[in-house]
Amino acid sequence: MRIGIPAETNAGEKRVATVPEVVEKLIKLGFTVAVQSGAGDAANCSDEAYRSAGAEIIDGASKLWAESDIVFKVAVPTRAEVELMREGGILIGFIWPAQNPELMQQLAAKKATVLAIDALPRQLSRAQKMDALTSQAGVAGYRAVIEAANAFGRFFNGQITAAGKVPPAKVFIAGAGVAGLAAIGTAAGLGAIVRANDTRAEVADQVKSLGGEFVKVEYEEEGSGGGGYAKVMSEGFQQAQREMYAKQAREVDIIVTTALIPGKPAPRLITAEMVQSMKPGSVIVDMAAERGGNCELTVPGEAVVKHGVTIIGYTDLNSRLAKQSSTLYGTNLFRLAEELCKAKDGIIDVNMEDDAIRGLTVIKDGEITWPAPAPKMPAPAAKPAAKPVAAPAAHGSAGAPASAGKVVAFFTAVALLFLLIGAYAPVAFLGHFTVFVLACFVGYMVVWNVTPALHTPLMSVTNAISSIIAIGALVQIAPPTMLGLTRPEGWILGLAVVAIALTAVNMFGGFAVTKRMLSMFRK
Ligand code: NAI
Repeated sequence: MRIGIPAETNAGEKRVATVPEVVEKLIKLGFTVAVQSGAGDAANCSDEAYRSAGAEIIDGASKLWAESDIVFKVAVPTRAEVELMREGGILIGFIWPAQNPELMQQLAAKKATVLAIDALPRQLSRAQKMDALTSQAGVAGYRAVIEAANAFGRFFNGQITAAGKVPPAKVFIAGAGVAGLAAIGTAAGLGAIVRANDTRAEVADQVKSLGGEFVKVEYEEEGSGGGGYAKVMSEGFQQAQREMYAKQAREVDIIVTTALIPGKPAPRLITAEMVQSMKPGSVIVDMAAERGGNCELTVPGEAVVKHGVTIIGYTDLNSRLAKQSSTLYGTNLFRLAEELCKAKDGIIDVNMEDDAIRGLTVIKDGEITWPAPAPKMPAPAAKPAAKPVAAPAAHGSAGAPASAGKVVAFFTAVALLFLLIGAYAPVAFLGHFTVFVLACFVGYMVVWNVTPALHTPLMSVTNAISSIIAIGALVQIAPPTMLGLTRPEGWILGLAVVAIALTAVNMFGGFAVTKRMLSMFRK
């Protein structure tokens, strides 16, 4: 089948639905690819680059749409574009079916099959590689901070120079979803002091892991509306939140707002008074501008200065990083193409039994299939009954709580084994064996009580500590009179020196690696 990539027609849209690097991969899946001449120009992808990747370049949208079995698009198609589509064709891109009922009818009349990338069931972990909303929001969050840095008259990081001391910029991020987290990481990476708030308390750890500080609203209310999205909060919470935001506005230099509740207008979080209270030269980037804005004074699509504060309401942050956005979007669509063409024969199979594909398919052969039923999620693992069970014994039962009988049997068997060893093993062996058993127990307790994320640094530090065996080598090279021993033979001395050199590498290297790894968590 032939995949067509038309030039985007929306004003200001610079992205393109695939890039030359991805074209090569699509061809390996068995498809042929046609690109409208000039489609990638604004994203720095020339016709020549597409041609070298194996695509055919077609002049004009009409020919491209008419000759493509499948069309990959970024922005929601216009009426005129749908008219160009061939009857029974396949369209993959952003559709937003709830907001565009007329478009849905028009596509259905074309007997089209339409996969809306915005309808992907994002809660399925298998769907993550196809999640264009996430990839695009991540780029936009990054770009929001770059726009803020551009409009801000100072450094982000603190500096002490011969010309004086520069304090670090303070950045506050409202909403720590995909875009918010990307903004936190970017601002922290530039050296700013970053604070963030979200109504969903569960994101606090993610904020911290990216180098930000989570600022809590002093009001107890759960903000999660399910599926990783927020819910509308009570009036009491909103009041407490406004007070906290007012305090932040007075203190920080930059605010990036990303707060969103799906299907609702953007919550108003930054009032005109808060803007007025900010220091002159401060910057607000309102990512929710298109949905009405999180800031009262935002002008969608524009950067304005109010009360000495630059308020950026750009709605095209992805187009302002068109190559990056297009590459990630193209990769998302390629991953989807892989799912649709498992046989790698260049033929798409829209399998409605597959939860991810079912969720995406909003029209199948002219029949509207949106909204899809909720995907079947694996049942949450049942909580093990709280029984006083000895920890090591519980492991033999593959995660299920061991019954008291099994535990008693296990310990009886172990005790009998030890009794036999004690009765028959040589005395010298018993000393080593006791140390071995204790070491196993201590090792088990240490490893199992450490967060899995820290297992790698734990290994490197235990590796370093294991270099204690250097003592054996040191004893060999110590002056014999010191220890009352006879001088060892020359070759033993040589081996001891080599052993010390090697364990030194192990020891110092191990500690150095551990320090580097731990500093990644400390950020
Ligand atoms: P998301 O749904 O992943 O994150 C939104 C976050 O806001 C959630 O964590 C939610 O809990 C939080 N939130 C909701 N109400 C809140 C409140 N009252 N106070 C504090 N936090 C609250 O959304 P995503 O993907 O991160 O997008 C963020 C915004 O960026 C959206 O408005 C989206 O439309 C916009 N966007 C704008 C672009 C542009 O070019 N301007 C490009 C891409 C996204």
